[in-house]
Amino acid sequence: MTGLWVTLEGGDGSGKSTQAALLADWLATQGRTVVRTREPGGTEVGALLREIVLHHRGEIDSRAEALLYAADRAQHVSTLVRPALERGDVVIQDRYLDSSVAYQGAGRVLDAVEVRDLSLWATGGALPDVTVLLDLDPATARARLDAADKPFDRLEAEASDFHSRVRDGFLALAAAEPGRFLVLDAARPAAELAAQVRARIAPLL
Ligand code: TYD
Repeated sequence: MTGLWVTLEGGDGSGKSTQAALLADWLATQGRTVVRTREPGGTEVGALLREIVLHHRGEIDSRAEALLYAADRAQHVSTLVRPALERGDVVIQDRYLDSSVAYQGAGRVLDAVEVRDLSLWATGGALPDVTVLLDLDPATARARLDAADKPFDRLEAEASDFHSRVRDGFLALAAAEPGRFLVLDAARPAAELAAQVRARIAPLL
């Protein structure tokens, strides 16, 4: 049995965690061992880095921010993701390098190719088997986040044109790699989206 690596991408409030949980439940019924993880913060070092990138209230230089995410990613892939895939597990991961390209590249005006190359260097070129993009209009996402009443998050607090650029960044990435991406309309009901994800994953098991 070979491992399978699935990442979920999309703006804040697009429903990634819900879909990750539904997919994990279904894979368990298929007898697969599932590792659920996320970036930033999937490891002990990553949790420390997550504190800095998400909760530090002062200014963080754009390049410093990109490097912090890349550092989290390097640690995560080498100590958690790769070993899990080598065991034959299914890794379901909230966010990966596409988030860096969309947020640090499209959102923060760093060069998208450089940001992507930085992550590929950090991880020895590791790319997921499937990336599910939960595409959602930022205004709808904002309404969901406000309803959820979560604690302060530096990136979620960015202005709406930032989130529009992030969305466009994700869609451009998906268009460039149609073989890896499954793009879904995240405004659809969760159960319907979960069925579309299962249909994409099932032949790969
Ligand atoms: P996430 O864990 O999805 O937030 P939450 O648990 O609050 O839903 O993502 C945290 C934030 O980090 C999100 O706003 C996007 C941002 N991010 C980047 O800017 N670059 C990256 O490379 C990653 C992985 C996340």
